[in-house]
Formats: sequence, structure tokens, C-alpha cells
Amino acid sequence: MKITKKLLGVTLGTVLVTFLVGCGAATTVAPTATAAPKMTTGGYVIPVAKCAPNCTYKDMTVGFIQTGSESGWRAANTSSFKETATQLGVTLKFYDAQNKIENQVSSFHQFNQDSSVTAVVLAALDVTGYDDVLAEAKTQGKIVVLEDRRIDAAPTNYYTYIGSDFIEEGHKSAAALCDLLKNSAHKNVAEISGAVGASAAIDRAKGFREKMGDCGMTIPDGLSQTGNWGVPESKAVMAAFLKKTTDIQAVFAHNDEEAIGAIQAIEEAGLKPGTDIFVLGLDATADGFKYLISGELSADIECNPLLAPQVYEAILKAMNGDTTVQTWTPSQEGQFFAAQGADALKAILATRKY
Ligand code: AHR
Repeated sequence: MKITKKLLGVTLGTVLVTFLVGCGAATTVAPTATAAPKMTTGGYVIPVAKCAPNCTYKDMTVGFIQTGSESGWRAANTSSFKETATQLGVTLKFYDAQNKIENQVSSFHQFNQDSSVTAVVLAALDVTGYDDVLAEAKTQGKIVVLEDRRIDAAPTNYYTYIGSDFIEEGHKSAAALCDLLKNSAHKNVAEISGAVGASAAIDRAKGFREKMGDCGMTIPDGLSQTGNWGVPESKAVMAAFLKKTTDIQAVFAHNDEEAIGAIQAIEEAGLKPGTDIFVLGLDATADGFKYLISGELSADIECNPLLAPQVYEAILKAMNGDTTVQTWTPSQEGQFFAAQGADALKAILATRKY
């Protein structure tokens, strides 16, 4: 996507919030011919900061490009970055792209051109479309870290990616529904998928399809559609599925909001979620737990949004020229079931931050 005047215009109009805490602004130096470049195992040449090897969080200014505010998970992810920046003394320039990739690309360009910015953190809306700004980050000596979502770019373009194994989440989802459907003669699954182009949606769908055959589950034609991570759209999608056929035994919803939408449509169709149709969600937010406790949601596969401490730690390592960081640091995640019982789930929920 070429960086044009129109794109620049887009950025100026949208949301940029700066959390000035530390003095920040430790300039990084684009690697020069003389100093042997510091390279990660993924082949990424690290733009080491001038304060290395003694940089601290107070020397760090981060340009953070968020997807938008599409879900409870996203809100928890955003809070993680804002709160942790305050705790550590990191200067955070937070940008909400309002779920438009053109906004992400233009804000990335802005951060590349901002001499106070040390590192750019991207939660990618799509798996492609960032080549130009990734190349620009190199020439501008900006450290790049991916959080939450992967992109289809070589690891020579970013220091590290910190986020979930979405394929594994797909595997867990299939295993959970296989167990719930073990006594069911029919195993037709309706899929409400995440936003088109998002790695979370692509990989969860792939992982589920890799394992659904283990117990004879199928996703019949016409029963897979995006709910764009939201309740109302997912409710409409599920209502349309049920108009087509009621021979559906389970729903594979790519996040909690989509599962809640499906539950509402199932109930409005006079059916009982958790009895007539088993619904599985992903994220395991507080809202997801509410429906697990009521029994309307049968399973919830966790996706961890509290990634900021790991991301800031990785950026500090990059500023200090640490080459030992892995290209990908998968998140640690669990899974929860209505069958655990309301009391046990309430006790777990009381310990959780989101
Ligand atoms: O990338 C993680 C996904 O993004 C979450 O599962 C979803 O709620 C969010 O929109």
C-alpha cells in the first residue's frame, strides 16, 4: 500500500493519544557499515539505541498501533499497554486504527517519521499490506515488534512476535466440541468466523479443520460466515443459519462476542443453547465466563490479552542490542467448560483481570 498524501490525511483525522511518562526519545541508530550489525536468530538487524547497553524503560518511546476496539478482549489488550506503560515509565503513543488497515499503514508511516519514537508495535488487522512501512522502519532505525496477530512477512522485518498460537486454539476448539458431541449421532458445526484477513481468524479456522475429522465433525456448506468479532452481526448470521437448517449440533465461534450473538439467536429460535446446540467461544473474557456460568456457553478457549509486559521487555532488550530473543513467543493459555460448574467458574473468574 503506497504512502500517499490522502493516507496522511486519514491519520491526522483519527485517534492518537500520547501517554507521556518517561523522558523517552532514546534515538536508535540505523545500523552503519562500521559497527557489526546485531542480528536476531530470525535475521532481523537490530537498530540498537544510543543508550545501549544501559537503556532503561524511561528511555523508551513506543508508537503502538491498535486494531480498534472491537471486543472485550481488545479492551483488555489496550488497557494492558496503557497501564503497563505508566507502571514502567514508558512513553506510549497509542493509536486506535478503528479497524481500518489504511489507518494502520498511515500511522505506521507517521511513527517512522517521528524522531522521538524508539519502537513501533503493531497489532495487525490483516496478514498483508505493511511491506512499505516495514521497509521504511528499517531505514528510519525503528525497532518493530508484532503483538497479538502475526503477518505474512519474513522475520527479517521485525524483532519478535508476541502472541497466541491461533492454530493451537483451533485444535483445542475441535477437541472440546468433539468431547461435547461424543454422544451425538449428527456432528454438524456452524462456524462464525473472525474478521476476514485477520491471522486470528485464518489460523483458528485452519486449526479447527485440521482436527474436526478426528470425531467426524463437519462444517456443512453455507454454515461458515464472519461475524466480524461482534454480537449483533453474529446474531444475524446465526439466525440466518437456523432459517436454512436446524440440523446443527454445535457452533464454533471465533470469540466471545460472536458466541453470545449465536446464543441470542438460538434462544430466539426457541432452542436451548448447551442442550439443543453446544456453543464454543474463544477469548475467555469476563462476559464469556458469565455465559459459561449460566450454562448457555459450553466451552471457552482462552486467548491471553495481557501481552504488554512481554512486549516492553522485548523492546528494551532490542534497544540494548540483545540478539537472543526468539522470533515468536507464544502466549500461555487455558480453556474453561460449563461442566466445571458455576461455583468453580465463579472462583476462577474472581482471580482474573479481564
Ligand atoms: O486477535 C485476537 C482476537 O482479536 C480476539 O480473539 C478477538 O476478540 C479480537 O478481536
